Amino acid sequence: MSTDKIFDVENVTLRFGGVVSLNDVSLFQTRGEILAVIGPNGAGKTSLFNSLTGVYQPQDGTITFTGRDANPISIIGKKPHRVSTAGVARTFQASRMFSALTAFENVKIGAESHRGIGVMGAMLKGPATRRGEKQSDARTIELLEFVGMREKANVVSASLSYGDRRRLEIARGLATDPQVLLLDEPAAGTNPSEKVQLTDLIRKVRDVMGVSILLIEHDMKLVMALAERLYVLNFGSVIAQGTPEEVRANPAVVEAYLGSSAEQTKGA
Ligand SMILES: Nc1ncnc2c1ncn2[C@@H]1O[C@H](COP(=O)(O)OP(=O)(O)OP(=O)(O)O)[C@@H](O)[C@H]1O
Ligand SMILES: [Mg+2]
Repeated sequence: MSTDKIFDVENVTLRFGGVVSLNDVSLFQTRGEILAVIGPNGAGKTSLFNSLTGVYQPQDGTITFTGRDANPISIIGKKPHRVSTAGVARTFQASRMFSALTAFENVKIGAESHRGIGVMGAMLKGPATRRGEKQSDARTIELLEFVGMREKANVVSASLSYGDRRRLEIARGLATDPQVLLLDEPAAGTNPSEKVQLTDLIRKVRDVMGVSILLIEHDMKLVMALAERLYVLNFGSVIAQGTPEEVRANPAVVEAYLGSSAEQTKGA
């Protein structure tokens, strides 16, 4: 029996001094799956993303990523840029747009960093660089079109709405041509109609581009609409997993959310 796992996390423990951010976490993602990780504030969700992208180095366990070439690599110990090159892209919980740059420029940065053009290349602008730049420009326009931001290409990011910025971050993540896209609270700060747009966009990224989606989100309506399967973290441990229906009916999950349920469903 072989399941095509894009991520395989086994017994991962991450500590910061006395704080255990991830406690013996095991989970997997199937290639092409829309998978969600939910849990109360401080549960360890972002720590998990940081561990999957080489930002944090867990003390115990293994994280295996299998890209398009079906060649499994071990993530722990790899630098973030190596993990990115291997095919793992992410967006951040707090927006990291360059607010003085336009939508176009912000996405192009993602495309160029992936092409490895670099500062020297950009300064010298030899023929190969100019060719590469043209490709980056074309790809950038394509991605802006894909996320529905083509007509706002020249708008400075600072003056975009939250929803637009969130879609732009997705475009920038896609510019690295990833196998999997990790989204850390992609709907944070958005209004209900922007949430609907984001839900449709995230599904389209998987359906049209074939990119697997790993999603952290507090908005239960969005999670339940998108996720095919989910894991629930609480105090660094996986306390439940399954389909949205299974997780919703799990008493341990209801218990974990009890204190914060009003907050979690607000605006859903
Ligand atoms: N760099 C760090 N140094 C020390 N402690 C950290 C660090 N990163 C995370 N932690 C701790 O790990 C725990 C989990 O934090 P994490 O940010 O992963 O939670 P989260 O589930 O993403 O929460 P939220 O929903 O609020 O974003 C917290 O106790 C946090 O303080
Ligand atoms: Mg977080």
